[in-house]
Amino acid sequence: MKTKHKERKQNLILMGFMGCGKSTLGRSLSYRLQMGLEDTDHIIEEMEGRSISEIFARQGEAAFRKMETELLTKLRDGGSRKIYSLGGGTPVQLQNQALIRQMGFVVWLRIRPETVMERVGKDTGRPLLQCEDPLGRIRELLAQRSPIYERCADLILDTDDMTRDEVTEEIARAYEAFLTGGA
Ligand code: S3P
Repeated sequence: MKTKHKERKQNLILMGFMGCGKSTLGRSLSYRLQMGLEDTDHIIEEMEGRSISEIFARQGEAAFRKMETELLTKLRDGGSRKIYSLGGGTPVQLQNQALIRQMGFVVWLRIRPETVMERVGKDTGRPLLQCEDPLGRIRELLAQRSPIYERCADLILDTDDMTRDEVTEEIARAYEAFLTGGA
């Protein structure tokens, strides 16, 4: 069994904290690379017939994390050459880290806590940020998660001060190099 997933698939995986631009960049990369785009949060919402916030409220975070692992296992065993935008916390579970690597070329869209706060600090659709001090929570989660994101990533981009087009182009070039064996 150990050797079964040695080969990496050729998907493009967008990973990073809430608000780092995974969805927006997923759309521009989908256009640039002419590849289909899937968002793992959306797939889970469709499968469950409820929003992420409802899943957290009714079933709890642990149940959501289990859904993420089940979905990644299916995706790892499924097709190739798609763009996947992951939930911000998806790589935290240890078994998910291996699954993500097996799925394809992994990009970490790195972002500063203040930028996250500006973009999604007041968004009620992010259950983990519904607290007294969202910026403190963002800092804490980012500090915990950054080493994990770093371990999973093939490419790390500091996106705070880059335009969408610049980020799109850098990722597209690195991914094309990965496909031709240069990454
Ligand atoms: C989460 C990020 C969210 C979503 C859920 C948990 C996290 O996805 O999966 O609210 O743990 O950081 P986005 O990064 O797309 O907001």
